[in-house]
Amino acid sequence: MTTINHEPIRDRARLATTALPTAADLDLAIANVLARIDRTLPDFTDQFPAPSSEGLVYPAIGNIEWTNGFWTGMLWLAYELTGEARYRAAAETQVRSFLDRAEQRINVAHHDLGFLYTPSACAALRLTGDADARRAGLLAADLLLERFDPVSGVIQAWGDLNDPAEAGRMIIDCNLNLPLLYWATAQTGDAKYRDAAEHHLTQAARYLVRADASTFHTFHMDTATGAPLRGTTHQGHGDDSCWARGQAWGIYGFALGYAHSGREALVGLSASLANYFLNRLPDDLVCRWDLIFTDGDAPADTSAAAIAACGLLELVRHLPASDPDRDLYTNAAWGMVRRLDADHLAPLHGSNGVLAHGVYHMPKRIGVNECCIWGDYFHLEALVRLRRVWRPYW
Ligand code: GLY
Repeated sequence: MTTINHEPIRDRARLATTALPTAADLDLAIANVLARIDRTLPDFTDQFPAPSSEGLVYPAIGNIEWTNGFWTGMLWLAYELTGEARYRAAAETQVRSFLDRAEQRINVAHHDLGFLYTPSACAALRLTGDADARRAGLLAADLLLERFDPVSGVIQAWGDLNDPAEAGRMIIDCNLNLPLLYWATAQTGDAKYRDAAEHHLTQAARYLVRADASTFHTFHMDTATGAPLRGTTHQGHGDDSCWARGQAWGIYGFALGYAHSGREALVGLSASLANYFLNRLPDDLVCRWDLIFTDGDAPADTSAAAIAACGLLELVRHLPASDPDRDLYTNAAWGMVRRLDADHLAPLHGSNGVLAHGVYHMPKRIGVNECCIWGDYFHLEALVRLRRVWRPYW
C-alpha cells in the first residue's frame, strides 16, 4: 500500500485565532438556519428542493434525485433541536415517499442510496421508531449491495450494472454511502452489508487517495481481473487536481469509516486529508471549488466547506486528547462555519436556500455560485455538532 504523506498543518496561527464559539454564538447561527427552513417548509413537504438553486431559488422536484435525503435530514435536525411537531410531520410525510421510491425502484440505479436514506429513513427510525422507515432503509441497503462487485471489491458509483464504461468505477463520495450498509448489518445481523462496505473502504483508501494525501474524484478498476486502472475526475478541474468537495467527502468518510470498522489507520488517513485541505484554504477559510485554486477569483464552494467542517468534527471525536492537532481541527471547523454564517447565508427574502456560493458541477456549469441542498444540510449538521453531543445519522 502506498505510504501517504502527512503534511504538517502550515500557518497554525491563522486557524488558532478563531476562538471557540459560545452557546449563544451557536444559537444565533442555528436560528439563522431555522428561519430559512421555516420560510421554505410550506413549499417542501410533498415536494423537495432540486439539488441546486437557480438564482438562489431551488425549483421544486419530486423524490427523484440523489439529493432528496438532505432536505428531510435538515427537518430531522430541526426536530431534534426544537422538538417542534411541524418538522417531524413534514419529515414523516417525506419518509413515506422514500419507502415508495425504494419499492418502485424510482431512480435508484446509482450508489447514492446512503445520501438518500441515511438522513431520511435511518434518522426517522432512530428518532421515532417508525417501522416503515426501517423497511425503506433496508430496501435501499439491498439496492446498494447489488452494486458491489466482488472481483474489484468496489461499489459501482453510477450507471447500469451492465454498462462497461461505468463498471468498476468508484468515487470518493461513496464513503458517505457506506454507513447505510453498516446500519443494515446492525439492523438485520447479516454481515453481508458490512463485508461489502469494508472491501470498498479498503479499495477507496488504497486507490482514491494519492501519495500526497489529495484525492482522485473517481477511480476505475478492472472488473475482470480486479486490477487498478486509473484515476479520473468528474466534477473537478482536472484528473490530477483535487476537487474540494471530494476531499471533504474523504475527510468525513474515512473518519466515519473508522467509527464503523474500528480500523485505526483510517483516523490517520482522515487527518492527512484534512491537513492537505486546510493547507490550501484561502485567507477567508472557505475553500475554492477545487483545491488547485488557493486564492483569487475562483468561485468558492461553501458546500465543501460545510462537509469538511463536519468531517473535522467527526475526526476530532476519534483522536486522543493528546493529539497535537485536535484543538486546531475544532478551531478550523468553527472558523469555517463562522464564515459561512457571517458571509455566505442566502438572503431571507428572494431565496429559499440556506447557504449561497456553492458549486454543484463546474465542468457542466450547473449550480455555480448557488445554494446546494447538501451544503444547507451539512452547515446545520456542523452547528448541531458544535452545540451539543449528537449521535451522527451516518
Ligand atoms: N456526490 C455528488 C456531489 O458531491 O456533487
